[in-house]
Amino acid sequence: MARGDWDPENLPDLSGRTYLITGSNAGLGYFSAEQLVGAGAHVVMTGRSPNRLAAARAAVTRRVVDAGASGSVETLLLDTSNLGSVRAAAATVKGRGKLDGLLLNAGIVHPPKERETSLDGNELVFATNVLGHFALAGALLLTLAAGRGRMVWLGSMSTSLGAQDPVDPQLHENYTGWRAYVQSKVATTALGFEADRRLRDAGVPVRSIIAHPGYSVSGRTRGVVGVNEPSRLARFTDNLQAALTQSKERGAWPLVRALADPEVEGGDFLGPRFVTRGEPRKGTASKITRDPEIAARLWGVCEDAAGVQWPFLKATKTRR
Ligand SMILES: NC(=O)c1ccc[n+]([C@@H]2O[C@H](COP(=O)([O-])OP(=O)(O)OC[C@H]3O[C@@H](n4cnc5c(N)ncnc54)[C@H](OP(=O)(O)O)[C@@H]3O)[C@@H](O)[C@H]2O)c1
Repeated sequence: MARGDWDPENLPDLSGRTYLITGSNAGLGYFSAEQLVGAGAHVVMTGRSPNRLAAARAAVTRRVVDAGASGSVETLLLDTSNLGSVRAAAATVKGRGKLDGLLLNAGIVHPPKERETSLDGNELVFATNVLGHFALAGALLLTLAAGRGRMVWLGSMSTSLGAQDPVDPQLHENYTGWRAYVQSKVATTALGFEADRRLRDAGVPVRSIIAHPGYSVSGRTRGVVGVNEPSRLARFTDNLQAALTQSKERGAWPLVRALADPEVEGGDFLGPRFVTRGEPRKGTASKITRDPEIAARLWGVCEDAAGVQWPFLKATKTRR
């Protein structure tokens, strides 16, 4: 997969494809939706707030569909911190047929200072960033297999900054917001690789891919009413870091490439060319996230905490 083979500003025709994005009312999820719809895809925009979702849907319609794109959008409530909400949303999507791609994007990026728990009793950052996505991808595995689709997990370069083996993924001890965030990203990346291994072993026609957006900030991203309205101060401070950062539109590029580039394979890791910014290309994930023992252990933790086993056997038998 060479760098020059993909132009993020001229995507292939995605007409007839359907993608679901978690956390798509803002940030990378929103701009991924814009790009996919712009290329003709149908996007199921999901989020936890009806009002924020409605604003995001209106923005995509105004900025992309009304501008002539053949793609389309619908919205669906999905709170990734809440396993009941994940089950309900998955049931709705399953009833509608095949899915070409699932972007597991939603995330708490500014975790609470003190440890908090979700409605299900799981540590909130782990529940939101990891468990909800593990449960969603498992629940939609047959739907993805029907479309020979892909799931894309959100990694982060923070996992290269001295991340440790997450032996206590729910941080019952020694919680800090930073530790919770980095552990959650170690987990999503490791689970992405583990899913790839398990899908291949079982012969399921679904690719599991990991993508990260570098360092993408709101203050360097165009304003979109109801979606991206950074303060003047945020614009000022984010622009001070211009050499290291990029917009969320560009941050969405590796995510969209992971979903749509036919050359991308299961187990690939995509990110910006210059780590924090740049065109999307294949890279190498941090060592800890590539450790199969850590990944297998996290898989078991997720199965127990989410009460979900992925239906590999049934998915193997699924044919379009
Ligand atoms: N930006 C970066 O530089 C960067 C770097 C590495 C990785 N990432 C990853 O990229 C993903 C998106 O980050 P971002 O920069 O776009 O952040 P963002 O602008 O803060 O957007 C986060 C999105 O996730 C949603 N979300 C949060 N909690 C949720 C929940 N319980 N259920 C459903 N949706 C929820 C938010 O919805 P609400 O509006 O309802 O809160 C929002 O739509 C995250 O997984 C993050 O870890 C980002």
